Amino acid sequence: MCGITGYTGSQEALPVLLKGLESLEYRGYDSAGVTLVDENGLYTQKRKGRLADLEKEMDIPSFHQTTGIGHTRWATHGVPSQLNSHPHTNASNTISIVHNGIIENYEPIKEELIRQGYKFQSETDSEVIVHLIDYYYQGDMLAALKKTVHHLAGSFSICVVSTDHPDEVYVAKVSSPMVIGRGKNGSYCASDIPAILEYTKDVVIMEDGQMARLTPDQIEVFDFEGRPIEAKITHIPYDLSAAQKGGFETYMLKEIYEQPEAIRETLRGRISGNQIILPKLDGLDLSAIDRIYIVGCGTAYHVGIYGSTLLQRWLPISAISTPASEFRYGHPVVDEHTLCIYISQSGETADTLAALKMTNEMGAQSIAIANVLGSSISRLANVTLYTCAGPEVAVASTKAFTTQLVLITLLIIKIAEMMGRRPQEADAVLHDLKRMPEIVDDMLKKSDEVKEYAELLKDQHDAYFIGRQLDYVSVLEGALKLKEISYVHADAYYAGELKHGPIALIEQGTVVIAMATQPEVAAKTISNIEETMARGANVILITNKEQPALKFDRVMRIPEIHPTLTCIPVTILLQLLAYHTATEKGRDVDKPRNLAKSVTVE
Ligand code: F6R
Repeated sequence: MCGITGYTGSQEALPVLLKGLESLEYRGYDSAGVTLVDENGLYTQKRKGRLADLEKEMDIPSFHQTTGIGHTRWATHGVPSQLNSHPHTNASNTISIVHNGIIENYEPIKEELIRQGYKFQSETDSEVIVHLIDYYYQGDMLAALKKTVHHLAGSFSICVVSTDHPDEVYVAKVSSPMVIGRGKNGSYCASDIPAILEYTKDVVIMEDGQMARLTPDQIEVFDFEGRPIEAKITHIPYDLSAAQKGGFETYMLKEIYEQPEAIRETLRGRISGNQIILPKLDGLDLSAIDRIYIVGCGTAYHVGIYGSTLLQRWLPISAISTPASEFRYGHPVVDEHTLCIYISQSGETADTLAALKMTNEMGAQSIAIANVLGSSISRLANVTLYTCAGPEVAVASTKAFTTQLVLITLLIIKIAEMMGRRPQEADAVLHDLKRMPEIVDDMLKKSDEVKEYAELLKDQHDAYFIGRQLDYVSVLEGALKLKEISYVHADAYYAGELKHGPIALIEQGTVVIAMATQPEVAAKTISNIEETMARGANVILITNKEQPALKFDRVMRIPEIHPTLTCIPVTILLQLLAYHTATEKGRDVDKPRNLAKSVTVE
């Protein structure tokens, strides 16, 4: 985790770097730092805390250098502190680096370097990189970088500057993202596309095992043997304004309100009449598949539970959803008869990526559902289907979740069809999926109503979310959203499980948020809700049914749609509930404490 950026060109580098880091802060904000360079030396400024703290401390107009690198940190090795902040420099202050990722074998390298007389300033794994480069450097930075990367195990994207080459930035990449591009005023590199989109829409999404040299006039790409490679240019179809707040108070609110459009875009061209159009799947042979795993982390894992529930309903096949961090070590049965579906907004989540590499090696076929174009997961899966949600900047996932639900519904119907068992309800589900952008729009109009319920939650220490069957997916997602942005402790339970333990927690005034949208079990959930009310709970009910709603004071209604899809409108209400509760409590919803957007460490 961490965001890194670099620039060399005809403009002053510092404002470019600071702007880039601002857009990368979602990747971590434990510390921030920059190194500027000219022929007279390196100028490194760094500090613990947010970028804004660094900016306050720096005398920005006094830095006129036109080359530099920057870093925003999410701590992995070593506590957030001044010394552990990046950039790291060598003892003679002639080479400086920033690093995103984890150097797994840093300890033996560090021991060897110490034996060679190197002194370390920090507790980080990253600092070995600058000393290794220093050790190998004999005037040719590319040669030194080449020798360095051959020693490193783990994941890294690195930017390097040096006083010997004051108008060059060198980069290298393995398993951590890095994009580079050339604009009219110079060359740029960063951990993700929005950070350089203002300067160019034609970028090179670097592959693992590549290095690059950036000069003001050109970018050159090399493999790890130092052989030149022709850079593959990707044109980015969205513009910077898509990655900015667009008038909303926060990115999260903007992204919540973007959901009708994001769903519309995700559906675009994928349904024709009653047919699902996913031509990329044609290359897969599913005839001998007897087991399907769906793997992801956090919110993406919740989509997996939804997907495996549909698979179990529609196919006589073993379908299991597991969080990636468990799947990898759970000795799953995987062979050439296995299909693995990976869900990831960023396409960079370390556990999900490692699980994909593992099942690829074991012979399984793989499909990824990703949002970030050219991300690591999308490049490793046999087939990638993109949610067209646009950049998701807020740490808490919103539009990625609902577009993933939409896309996995299409995917699973299609898989069932390819296996010769189109579900009976497919037509009805597709019909309502097409209506989904309008349905979501209607849910967003309930924001003020939801705000009143947030009043009830804002002074609570705990909240309990309950539901059955597919409602359980909404329950999990609603509880996660509430806890991660408002810090109200929230638990998610199957409604039927309450009386096997959790009901002991219910007392006068406890808030219970209940979903009852699944026709087969709604009545049973209602009974469970009544059991909590008998013990003093204040219940907020979300339902699509007229009748049971009459018994309750606090009810939010969703429209009558196919029960397979209720999770989408319900989640919109739960996102708003979490959002309003968090803002009532004065939380930083876009950057909740201890979290980062893209979890590239295990
Ligand atoms: C929660 C949230 C996380 C992510 C998880 C996976 O709101 O955003 O739980 O869903 O870290 O991230 P991706 O989808 O990028 O793999």
